Amino acid sequence: MSENTLTITDNRTGKQYGIPIENGTIKAIDLRQIKISEHDFGLMTYDPAFMNTASCKSRITFIDGDKGILEYRGYPIEQLAEKSTYLEVAYLLLHGELPTESQLQQWTDNITHHTFINENIKKVIDGFHYDAHPMGVFEATLGALSTFYPDAKDIFNQELRRKQIYRLIAKVPTIAAFAYRHRIGMQYSYPDNELSYEANFLNMMFKTTELKYQPNPVLERALSVLFILHADHEQNCSTNAMRSIGSAHTDPFSAIAGAAAALYGPLHGGANEMVLRMLNEIGSIDKVADYIKRVKAGEFRLMGFGHRVYKNYDPRARIIKKVAYEVFEVTGRDPLLDIALELERIALEDEYFVKRKLYPNVDFYSGIIYQAMRFPVDIFPVLFAIGRTSGWLAQWIEMLDDSDQKIARPRQVYLGQRTRDYVPMERRSAARAEAGQGEAALLTGHGV
Ligand code: ACO
Repeated sequence: MSENTLTITDNRTGKQYGIPIENGTIKAIDLRQIKISEHDFGLMTYDPAFMNTASCKSRITFIDGDKGILEYRGYPIEQLAEKSTYLEVAYLLLHGELPTESQLQQWTDNITHHTFINENIKKVIDGFHYDAHPMGVFEATLGALSTFYPDAKDIFNQELRRKQIYRLIAKVPTIAAFAYRHRIGMQYSYPDNELSYEANFLNMMFKTTELKYQPNPVLERALSVLFILHADHEQNCSTNAMRSIGSAHTDPFSAIAGAAAALYGPLHGGANEMVLRMLNEIGSIDKVADYIKRVKAGEFRLMGFGHRVYKNYDPRARIIKKVAYEVFEVTGRDPLLDIALELERIALEDEYFVKRKLYPNVDFYSGIIYQAMRFPVDIFPVLFAIGRTSGWLAQWIEMLDDSDQKIARPRQVYLGQRTRDYVPMERRSAARAEAGQGEAALLTGHGV
């Protein structure tokens, strides 16, 4: 038997199986041959939350969570954050290589010329309440965009696929900014295609009476770095949603709406908003120690801390912390930073966090920068989504072009009732009482 195999002995039958090992994995489907009888379905793996399951082969983003390493297409995140721009990184993620000067020029032109949205999309946004959460507006508007571009359904047409990519990367800042302006009751500020991607976004967010909006270059650069840091992160929850929805050959606008919905959750991209709310709730440095005590007692989690993959300092958090100081040179120091620094200091020394390898993640400091730049708290997850759009698209294309991929459809371990006769309404209460089932049992995830 070859060296690159795993020998499994099934103690139920005494049979042995040789399972090939490739790239440090075995194929779950190879376990199916392990049966106790001809009618047995065969062995499966049980892995809720994909704790130890690779769902794809990828060449986009590399993470070493123990060492705190993050690379896009092999380039260390630190170098990209220092030397690159967001659009250049988006090109890298989608094409696999850094662009030449003319490629970058062409790419930037193509994105820039798709920044406007159909006027009817404004009516969709106008339909929301003034206090609608911008992330809800963002998701719904992305879904609505799919109805404006029926050609997006043609996902195997390379030219049309490219067009949807330009449209999506170009329009997400416009939708985000319009959602914000609607919220505060200000007229929409249209894209200014003479500005950079980031400067134009700031223009659409904050322009008031000035004839030409010109952002502070430090803030424009900070935004570019933040978009770069958020651009991709291999098979996270929202990327998994993008791939899963896309595997049904759904158009990319609908798939991205679904990915954004996954990102919205407080355990994922919604954490940046929760961090800011947490820092405000703590209120002052002297209350930090008590707050940590309550976290340790299991009352709630320390938002912006911990990660499924990083068991070391998140390299993005390190870069963001540095950017925060640069932004504060322009905006003035946000007192919340001192609370965050104290939280980090205590947590990194505390046995509870050390033992569990809980470190600040990307969301811990990003919110403080966004707030200093005048972004309202509830738009933070939307900012995350703008940067992540290029990564979602790169992963979507990789999935579509991967001959190993099919419609995503996990298996389950069924533990519920098997075939039984329908109980007429008049007999249900008595039948439940007999079985000792109260009403409350029906409301739990466990059912009856
Ligand atoms: N605060 C306090 N305790 C925590 C935290 C936290 N932020 N995160 C994990 N723990 C504890 C858990 O209670 C658990 O302790 P136990 O072993 O005593 O039960 C242990 O650490 C392991 O936690 P899990 O939930 O099993 O870790 P998992 O990998 O499933 O979760 C997650 C990762 C969701 C990011 C988690 O750390 C968390 O909830 N963090 C706060 C939310 C957050 O910041 N999310 C953003 C992540 S980055 C991103 O998605 C962009």
